[in-house]
This record gives sequence, structure tokens and C-alpha cells, in this order.
Amino acid sequence: MSIALIVLAAGKGTRMQSDLPKVLHKIAHAPMLWYAMRAGSVLEPEHSIVVAGHGADLVEASAKDFDPEAQVVLQTEQLGTAHAVAQAKPALDGFEGDALVLYGDTPFIRQETLEAMAEARAQNDVVVLGFEAADPGRYGRLVTDGEELMRIVEFKDASPQERNITLCNSGVIAAKSDVLFDLIDAVENNNASGEYYLTDIVAIARSRGLSASVVRCDEAETLGVNSRAELATAESLFQTRARAELVENGVSLLAPDSVYLSWDTVIGRDAEVEQNVVFGPDVTVESGARIRAFSHLEGAHVSRGAVVGPYARLRPGAELAEDTHVGNFVEIKNAQLHQGAKANHLTYIGDAEIGEKTNIGAGTITCNYDGVFKHKTTIGKQAFIGSNTMLVAPVTIGNDAMTASGSVVTSDVPDGAMALARAKQVNKEGFATKLFAMLRAKKAKKQAQND
Ligand code: UD1
Ligand code: MG
Repeated sequence: MSIALIVLAAGKGTRMQSDLPKVLHKIAHAPMLWYAMRAGSVLEPEHSIVVAGHGADLVEASAKDFDPEAQVVLQTEQLGTAHAVAQAKPALDGFEGDALVLYGDTPFIRQETLEAMAEARAQNDVVVLGFEAADPGRYGRLVTDGEELMRIVEFKDASPQERNITLCNSGVIAAKSDVLFDLIDAVENNNASGEYYLTDIVAIARSRGLSASVVRCDEAETLGVNSRAELATAESLFQTRARAELVENGVSLLAPDSVYLSWDTVIGRDAEVEQNVVFGPDVTVESGARIRAFSHLEGAHVSRGAVVGPYARLRPGAELAEDTHVGNFVEIKNAQLHQGAKANHLTYIGDAEIGEKTNIGAGTITCNYDGVFKHKTTIGKQAFIGSNTMLVAPVTIGNDAMTASGSVVTSDVPDGAMALARAKQVNKEGFATKLFAMLRAKKAKKQAQND
């Protein structure tokens, strides 16, 4: 069955105390909105519709950043969840599949849960995702009769007996698209909030002889974010889960609580991550690589057998092939290190390509920026870059070439050549001894004057 996702994201999020729309606040480097979209993507939706209101332009840009095909529809006034879903109706005109409603501020719904919803939908006209709440608070309550869902009652409208129900509404609802919009057309706003409640569609469906049921999920999946404090809780929850998932998949985390992951971090089995490592967005670490303590990675790819750190920084476009080594206080940006290349100490490599088995000496800098343009440094295979070489780009160093330490290399070095680009050394015999004697005498004289 083809699926249309409808992600509700029009709310202002007053309690965030922010100019940024709530759903654009980030968890592990990704806007909250992307989590709902990513969870829904497992169903390979034919339509991904985001209902935006507050900050709609920003929400639209972000939704399209995640999925260029996403459609954003506007809800100019927030008149309730049913009214929000109704805004997607024109976009789904003639669509024959199922619609699945998600909230943009509920980032932890699992893909498996949504798959279960889609399956249950095949047997029932309306499917609601519910959970047993430890403290049901102000959630809508699911009124059931055996396995059947009879209706949903909002907390504000619930009787004392109904408030005792602990099975609560997560907000996720699935129904055949045209059925959903038919039901929503019948929703009224004569309730305690004066809003059009999406939850009313269950009772309306039953009154029309349609069936409704509940799929249950863990309460943790339904965690919503309404304030900065809840955002911090969500961040920490994400980190705990993502670490646990990596460990379960065979990654060694030596001190899991000190490793910060991004929403999209990929680490292969038998890779090892030491203490205090930070992963920014878009990092892939292959099996068996080792990320040593205090390293910071973003937009980087680390291949099998590579060793990074301690204290390394990989910036976007860092491509480390197999068995490469990047050591302490080395920064790599937009550069490829081919197999077995090494840069072990105190180096900046930016906009560069480093050939197989080339060794970059301590203190080497690619001078890639002239103040206006960026330029490329290309180094061949098995080259040896002497310590403290300045490679003034654009520049090419050949295969098996060398640079003498301390060189400022401004022109290309052919294969097999050695570049020596520094002042020639001159030794003045006995000069140091004489100079020391002179300076010490001067110091003694000064001290005598002060006494
Ligand atoms: C809703 C449910 C409640 C459920 C709870 C779970 C209804 C009537 N109630 O209540 O049963 O237990 O979620 O968290 O559906 N939104 C819009 N436009 C609107 C109104 C809301 O886009 O006009 C969006 C909000 O931004 C939010 C989501 O819909 O992402 C839910 O709205 P919210 O006001 O938080 O609903 P609750 O009162 O929490
Ligand atoms: Mg809410």
C-alpha cells in the first residue's frame, strides 16, 4: 500500500522561548523535524507532507533539505490537530493510499513501530498509536472495548473515570487517505479547547461502522519536546540510545558516556572509539578503524585500519583511506589521504590529495588560502614531506619526492626530486662562546650597579 506522511509542525512552541520554530531545534545536529521524516521514510512514502505555520519558510527549507520532494502546506491559524491535517487534503487529492499522521516535535518514534502501524492499517480503518503512560497527565485517553478502540477523549474533556485510563494517545494516526479527510470533514470544535481535534475521528469512524484499533509502543518513543529542558533531555536520550545501538552492533566504545554522536553517525563493527570523541554530522567510520581519545570529526570518512588521534580534527571532506594515520594536533579538511599515508603530528592539510604511503612530517602546513581563493596541494605516492614544510598552493609534489624540512615550497617538485627551499646554513666557529661571554659580562655589570 502506498503511503503519504503528514507531519504536523505548525505549532509555535512558545515554551521554547525562541525565535526559531520549535521543530527546527536540533537534537544531535539534526532538526527535530528530520527525525519524524526519517522514521516515516522506512515506509517509502509516496508523499511527504509537512504542515507548517509559525516560521513556515524556515520549516519548508529544512524539510526540503531532508527530502527535496517533501511538500510543505501552510496552516495559517492553529485551530487544532484535525484542522492541521485538513491542510494536506488538496496535496493528496486523488491519492489512493494510506495517510500516516506524525508530529514534528516527537522525534523518537521507531521505524518498527510505524511498520506495525502500516500493517495494522490493512485490517482496520483507523489505527492509533497508543502507550501505557506511567503518569498519563494531560494526554488524550484511549477508550477501548477489548481490542477495539471506541473513541479518544482529550484530558480537558474527560470524566474522572476516563482520566483513570492509563492507555494514552501518542498522536500518530493512520487511515486510508480519503477516509481520513472524510472523517475530518465531520469534526467539530465544540469542546473544552474550542479546537478541531483529530482525535474525534475515532468516534466518528465508529458511528459510521468503520473499525478502529490501537498499536502500542513504548512510552519513551512518544516523548515530545516543548521546552529547552525537554530538548536537553531528548538530546541525552538520543545519545544514550545511539551509543547502545553502536555497542550492540559490535563497536567498542571505551567510555560510552563521553562519546558524542550525531543523528547520522555510522560506525562499523570492530571499530574502536576511545574516550571523549565528538562526532559532528556526516561521519562514516569503517570496520576496524580506531578513533583515539579527544578527536573531533565532522563530514569525514575513515576507512578500515585507519587510526585517528589522539587529538585529531577531521573536517568536512576529510577522506582517509585504509591504513592511514592521522595523529595528534593534525587538522584535515577537504583532503584525501590515500592508502597508508601518514600525518602524525602538528599539521594542517586542507584542499589536498596525499598519495599512497606518503609521510607528512611534523609541522607541515598546506598554505591553501591566499586571502581570496583556495588552492590545491597534490602530493604523489611514497613522498616524504620534511618537518615544518610550508606547501604554498597551488603546488604539486611528485611520486617518491622529498622536501627538506623547513622548506617553503612555492613551485612544483618533480618525481624523485628533493626540494630544498630554505636559507643555507652557515656555521661561525667559536662565535657562540664569544657571544655568551659578552652577554654574561654585561649581566654581571648590571647586577653590580643595582647592588
Ligand atoms: C495531542 C492529542 C492528544 C495526545 C497528545 C500527544 C489532539 C486533539 N490531542 O494533544 O490526544 O495525547 O497530542 O502528545 O490531537 N499542531 C499543528 N496545528 C494545530 C495544532 C497542533 O500543527 O493547529 C501540531 C503541534 O505543533 C504539535 C502537534 O500538532 O506538533 C500536537 O499538538 P499539541 O497542541 O501539542 O496537542 P496536544 O494538546 O499535546
Ligand atoms: Mg503536545
